[in-house]
Amino acid sequence: MKPELGVCYYPEHWPEEIWAEDARRMAETGLSWARIGEFAWSRLEPEPGKLSFDWLDRAIDTLGAAGLKVVLGTPTATPPRWMLEKHPDMLAVDARGLPRKFGSRRHYCFSHAGYRAECVRIARLLGERYGRNRHVQAWQIDNEYACHDTVISYSRAAAEGFRDWLAQRYQSVQALNRAWGNVFWSMDYADFAEIDPPNQTVTEPNPAHVMAWRRYSSDAVVAFNAAQARALRPLTDAPLIHNYMGWEVNFDHFDVGADLDIASWDSYPIGFLSDRLRDDEAHKRRYLRQGDPDMQALHHDLYRAVGRGRWWVMEQQPGPVNWAPFNPAPLPGMPRLWAWEAFAHGAEAVCYFRWRQAPFAQEQMHAGLLRPDSAAAPALAEAAQVAREIAELPEIRPAVAPVAILFDYPSAWAWQTQPQGATFDYFELVLALYRSLRKLGLSVDILPGNAELSSPKLLLVPGLFALTDELKVRLAAREGITLVGPRSGTRTAEFALPVPLPPALPGLDTTIALTESLPPSADMPLAQGGAMTRWLEHIEGSAETVEETIAGQPVLARSGGLHYLAGWPDPPALARILARACTEAGIETVEMPEGLRRRDTETHRFYINYAAEPVRFDGLEIPAAGVAWKEIT
Ligand code: GAL
Repeated sequence: MKPELGVCYYPEHWPEEIWAEDARRMAETGLSWARIGEFAWSRLEPEPGKLSFDWLDRAIDTLGAAGLKVVLGTPTATPPRWMLEKHPDMLAVDARGLPRKFGSRRHYCFSHAGYRAECVRIARLLGERYGRNRHVQAWQIDNEYACHDTVISYSRAAAEGFRDWLAQRYQSVQALNRAWGNVFWSMDYADFAEIDPPNQTVTEPNPAHVMAWRRYSSDAVVAFNAAQARALRPLTDAPLIHNYMGWEVNFDHFDVGADLDIASWDSYPIGFLSDRLRDDEAHKRRYLRQGDPDMQALHHDLYRAVGRGRWWVMEQQPGPVNWAPFNPAPLPGMPRLWAWEAFAHGAEAVCYFRWRQAPFAQEQMHAGLLRPDSAAAPALAEAAQVAREIAELPEIRPAVAPVAILFDYPSAWAWQTQPQGATFDYFELVLALYRSLRKLGLSVDILPGNAELSSPKLLLVPGLFALTDELKVRLAAREGITLVGPRSGTRTAEFALPVPLPPALPGLDTTIALTESLPPSADMPLAQGGAMTRWLEHIEGSAETVEETIAGQPVLARSGGLHYLAGWPDPPALARILARACTEAGIETVEMPEGLRRRDTETHRFYINYAAEPVRFDGLEIPAAGVAWKEIT
């Protein structure tokens, strides 16, 4: 498959007279896709039931006539103002009980049946009109579920939906009381009708209650998305896509992805570095204009899993954004590098956000491929260069990586629900392992828990809160090296401590006898160097000790290929532990130069240089903020 480039375009923002010239320039740049429509509801239906699709007909025709394929969005992330007159209670409600009002976007509650029906209606109308349009070759449903913290809503609709969900899950309120341990603090319920969402409690609510609420809230996103997918399916053969976000774990993306054909995500490397990553200042300074060297790749691999192999970058940062605390410009080369990195990980398409910088409203300081005066912004030439390079390169076929990490969204909710240590963050743990593997020169796959687990030579299972017996058996039966922990299997699915004590892995005599979390100043040094940080489990049992603290306390135990890691190692300790596991698994590792990463496809090895200096490696000279590739022989 040859990857493609595209751009996000908002015809409704510009006079119709310039659409044709815009489309011509997009095609001239070498772009194949234009994503449109995802926020246009007020212009598609200015009054309830009064439809105005003519302009969209002409926009699609204009783009199509220039040779562009269209991704058409359903506009359900931005309900028009009149929708509130029809459904006054459709707004999401925050934890304090206040409505999240009109005037920006995503002002809806996933649980509101009336709003969901409106979304199905507009999706169906769009499907009827454009489902067989030859230019509309993909659909995007809604826009960035969860953006602006919108998954969880404490509305009346959500409370009612939750009670119904609980009744279905537990069947009787006595069963719920038992499962949650409601005897504690006299929290027993006599009826499902008595159960509220877990906000505004005096102190911490029951974690089992919170976990149920998180699951319900995730399921509401899944149902909302599925309703639109069901409306569109009979009307189109084009793939259905959603654009997910970076570092976003508030709903189960694997569940949403099951109803779609392609996963995509919105990649803002420099914004994320400033906004999401908690790395030290030196790291942030070094990568200020490039973004973190592992953040994008991790998401590429995660969303490849969510899309069951098919994935895109739907929005790619082109220049400074508007929404992070600080918004520096990318180093020259980065808009090209980010696209190539995505392709190296198997992206079918990368679409830059956006075509022209909007001179009005919230995102007026957000760069595009064009300036507001239509002159080229710096990323335009880089996009054109990528398009030329794609034409020269043979197809890219992703290869199966030798190492994989199991990823589980409910585990992220579990450790937010009861962190126990303020610095224990599930996503950060996964990123730490991923980063360490990549610094050893490795390509990594991300897998969901229900994946086939036999192919990776090395499999990591960090922080997976509830290991089912079935998964434990599959892990123990694997050939190759399996590294479970820290914190894996330390709760039941209902958020209780399991007995026998965890991790209770078949064939590995290791038990967590006591757990402690460590503040930043209290790392526990290891005998072979480095330290455990943040988290330390005291393990006992007859399994062989591979690593211990300087006081002789075991922290990594094994039996055959199955290992349990009883803490969160700092980078030097993690590098040693993973390098050793790789050697045992028969995987070759190498210490990568700072900022340089590799990713293998079936035919090529790609080198991605996030450093601001050129680097020589593997016989190649890779420029600063540059990429290189060579055939695998
Ligand atoms: C994304 C969003 C876009 C735009 C962009 C700005 O989160 O999907 O609509 O707001 O960010 O960076």
